[in-house]
Amino acid sequence: MRKRTKKKSGGRIAVLLVLICAVIAVVTIQEIKAGSDSAKTGQSANESPGQNENAAAGSSDSTTTGEPVQSGTDEPTKTGQEEPPADDQQPADANQTPAKPPVSDSTNDDDSIVVVAQPESVTALINKHFALPEDYEPADLVYPDVPFTFSEKIEKRKIRQVAADALVQLFAGAKEDGVPLAGVSAYRSYSRQKTLFDNYVREDGLEKARTYSAVPGTSEHQTGLAIDVTGKDGKCAASDCFAGTPEAKWLAEHADEYGFIIRYPEGKEDITGYKYEPWHIRYVGKEIAKVVASEDLTLEQYMDKYGDGAVLVTGQ
Ligand code: DAL
Ligand code: ZN
Repeated sequence: MRKRTKKKSGGRIAVLLVLICAVIAVVTIQEIKAGSDSAKTGQSANESPGQNENAAAGSSDSTTTGEPVQSGTDEPTKTGQEEPPADDQQPADANQTPAKPPVSDSTNDDDSIVVVAQPESVTALINKHFALPEDYEPADLVYPDVPFTFSEKIEKRKIRQVAADALVQLFAGAKEDGVPLAGVSAYRSYSRQKTLFDNYVREDGLEKARTYSAVPGTSEHQTGLAIDVTGKDGKCAASDCFAGTPEAKWLAEHADEYGFIIRYPEGKEDITGYKYEPWHIRYVGKEIAKVVASEDLTLEQYMDKYGDGAVLVTGQ
């Protein structure tokens, strides 16, 4: 019995020793493995595993292939033609930067064109020498509550708010006097003027076209302060036969009372640069309009006489 017990306890000690060795071996292997993982990621052995997951994921994209991962690789052809990211896009008011003048020359001789600094000014002088920025569009264009020769709500029906208010009064006054009027064409964008001007040049040649149509950028219609008007029946709209009509006479006599001037009067072609247009009225405000009408001036002459002296009037 004693012998058997001694044998039994010796066997237990052996098993215990084997188990202890096994545990030591497992712990050692785990320590070696942990050291190897942290060397790969740069993580210290004390950091928790979750802390460096993102870094590991981020680096794997660039290291697995040796090339940076390209975004949008499903659209490989969109290289230089892609739009810049939102942060690189131009500010919303970038279109307020004055366009490059067609010709910039401070001497303002006969062939020069200077882009005006304040295109939104109600008294801006726009003619063959003073142009609007190509991208200028008035911010306060509205549809005036007056009849037009057409029914569509399109660009040429628009006019600036201050001129629209005055125009409603003018049309009401004309109607009261028995000469109801109709609008023909008010605001015109640079691109619309370009289309018209190019057509006229094709029809009549450059020299003749320039006597009745403005080079793009130099049309008063782009100011949103000018409008061509005619009689209610729409006959003679923007045509020579409008001259001498009751409507033309009424405009010549009364437009200034509402702040408008006949911008291209008869006999002043050398000053304005355009043939007589009894239908084209321009809003400048009542004060200036009254002086222009009573002193029989063009806007060029008015500016030369009462302005700051910066405007040179030619052809006198
Ligand atoms: N008919 C005028 C001059 C213009 O084209 O603006
Ligand atoms: Zn006109």
